[in-house]
Amino acid sequence: MLVTGSSSGIGKATAALLAESGWVVYASARRPETLGALTDLGCRALALDVTDEASMRAAVAVVEEDHGAVGVLVNNAGFSQSGALEQVDMADARRQFETNVFGPARLTQLVLPAMRAQGWGKVVNIGSMGGRLTFPGGGYYHATKYALEALSDALRFEVAGFGIDVVLVEPGFIRTGFAAAAAAGMSGQSAEGDDPYREFTAGVLASTTGVYDRGLLARLGGEPDDVARAVREAITTSRPKARYPVTASARLLGGLRAVLPDRAWDSLMARSFVQPGRRRG
Ligand SMILES: NC(=O)c1ccc[n+]([C@@H]2O[C@H](COP(=O)([O-])OP(=O)(O)OC[C@H]3O[C@@H](n4cnc5c(N)ncnc54)[C@H](OP(=O)(O)O)[C@@H]3O)[C@@H](O)[C@H]2O)c1
Repeated sequence: MLVTGSSSGIGKATAALLAESGWVVYASARRPETLGALTDLGCRALALDVTDEASMRAAVAVVEEDHGAVGVLVNNAGFSQSGALEQVDMADARRQFETNVFGPARLTQLVLPAMRAQGWGKVVNIGSMGGRLTFPGGGYYHATKYALEALSDALRFEVAGFGIDVVLVEPGFIRTGFAAAAAAGMSGQSAEGDDPYREFTAGVLASTTGVYDRGLLARLGGEPDDVARAVREAITTSRPKARYPVTASARLLGGLRAVLPDRAWDSLMARSFVQPGRRRG
């Protein structure tokens, strides 16, 4: 099995759990020197940047050389480019799609021929509850996760006849390096003068980290191991479900979004986020 983004969080936990469960795991990262703890568990370390074609080809070639095909691909690498839609630089928005959408799509293209040839394979996409609902300040991130939902649905149909399963794992709030990375890369923080999004951005920044630490939603969140166990369940069951929401936060908020009218969802968001441009007083 090949796991992307194994340097931390969900990818690291998944590679570790599956190696401990007896799978041959190729743990990959942009900086393979971050994979020491996983190689100690028996994982093989590979350099893999999902925005780099040559790097993706080389990683897949190593696994195919050793085993004929990648049996299980876990598309996990990803991050959130947060910020008000108006203020995110388009180069950053494109980078967001390169990593979260085109990377996994291209890697999937690269592994499919050998999976088809052997008549067996599994593609696990780490989506998000954020592929079914949207928080203000996360427009580009959510757009990538909605895209992953659509790609997974199309692919599931297209490759089922070749013996290949496609599964979406949809984590809720999981305590990893994700929030810190999102906070560090958030657009609009350095805006000066009469920035109309100043208060909004500050609120998004506070909730990006706070939601994992405090309050009801933090209690309904989970750990990377919860996601790793869902991945293991998805790849060991003979007939996997199309989607595996992980944690109560994903089930609760996903369910709520599915039943609430759009305006009601917006009102709910207005209780947690400062609305830009809205006069107060
Ligand atoms: N944590 C949550 O609450 C949550 C919820 C729903 C979904 N998810 C999804 O879960 C996945 C893993 O996130 P996480 O929570 O485990 O966060 P994390 O701890 O920040 O891990 C993200 C991983 O992605 C890697 N990565 C980023 N850009 C990459 C690239 N171009 N090529 C290869 N690897 C790259 C990072 O590697 P570097 O060390 O090289 O930066 C890191 O290993 C993401 O797809 C995320 O959207 C997370």
